[in-house]
Amino acid sequence: MKALVLAGGSGTRLRPITHTSAKQLVPVANKPVLFYGLEAIAAAGITEIGIVVGDTQAEIEAAVGDGSDLGLQVTYLRQQAPLGLAHAVLIARDYLGEDDFVMYLGDNFIVGGIGDVVGRFTSDRPDAQIMLTQVGDPRQFGVAELDADGRVVGLEEKPAEPKSDLALVGVYLFTPLVHRAVAELKPSWRGELEITDAIQWLIERGHRVESSVISGYWKDTGNVTDMLEVNRLVLESLETRLEGRVDDVSELIGRVVVEPGAVVERSRIVGPAIIGAGARIVDSYVGPFTSIAADCVVDGSEIEYSIVLPRSSISGVSRIEASLIGHDVEVTPAPNTPRAHRLVLGDHSKVQISS
Ligand code: DAU
Repeated sequence: MKALVLAGGSGTRLRPITHTSAKQLVPVANKPVLFYGLEAIAAAGITEIGIVVGDTQAEIEAAVGDGSDLGLQVTYLRQQAPLGLAHAVLIARDYLGEDDFVMYLGDNFIVGGIGDVVGRFTSDRPDAQIMLTQVGDPRQFGVAELDADGRVVGLEEKPAEPKSDLALVGVYLFTPLVHRAVAELKPSWRGELEITDAIQWLIERGHRVESSVISGYWKDTGNVTDMLEVNRLVLESLETRLEGRVDDVSELIGRVVVEPGAVVERSRIVGPAIIGAGARIVDSYVGPFTSIAADCVVDGSEIEYSIVLPRSSISGVSRIEASLIGHDVEVTPAPNTPRAHRLVLGDHSKVQISS
């Protein structure tokens, strides 16, 4: 069995964070979301993995390399334009050959991995297997309609009037039969070859499509609240690791990770929290559920329940909460502005804040 991981496309929904970088590399607890998928695939015992890449190929390759660190053999498959999930299967046809495969969308995050679903697929071997989850706004997803016995009878991509609140999760298991479906597809109303239509093709021709409903699922719907929540969830299972330098007057409470080269001086960190490699936390408070990425500086500031991407600096700011801060951002004090701040800052932003 192989894996096909989709890491192409253009990241419009998490803008401005993904304005300048691949959305699959947005970090959760200082690790790109894509890596959780790759690890889940490796843990399910799959080693041959094709990664579909687009314009951000260089960035993805720099992060993942040949996959050997994760015990994977990675082949990069270039998709010239993001023409749809089924188009990605089309360009991967030769790579996939006659193997069964799991298709994993690189911007999806699934709590608990995929070992169980892969196991069930290999023992039952239906023609295709999908995962569904209840969502608040199904219009942003592929939506499944089930009959009274819980069998999938129809799928619709981003319907204006969804027939259920069960969204398709971005992990699909296929036999090579899917290639016949994909070969016959026509572009949808949004100009893409939809994998949803390929599965619908299988259903309409009487092939066996199994589904299961899961909880513990997240994808970038552009919703910062969700992203902070998944960061919290991952930090919940963090184990203390102190590889950087913490001075005697600093206080670390609960589970805190201080990565190599990070420095904590005259500060208080209440976990779970992670301080990335080379970061400097000086005269500051870092509260629970905070991920500070590599080479950031937090100086004379307080921050809690937030994500800060690499190389950003926060200086002299009294309180930041529930915020997502991009790469290379500078946050500094400014006079005469309101005292409450809630921020979603894009890469390279510069913001002045009163403290
Ligand atoms: O996340 C689940 C949803 O994913 C499903 O509910 C939908 O049925 C399915 O169509 C898909 O919806 P999105 O429109 O949200 O997919 P998105 O464009 O975000 O692409 C998903 C991943 O695949 C992302 O990592 C980018 C990558 N991709 C996307 C396209 C369109 C490619 O590599 N190539 C592509 O052509």
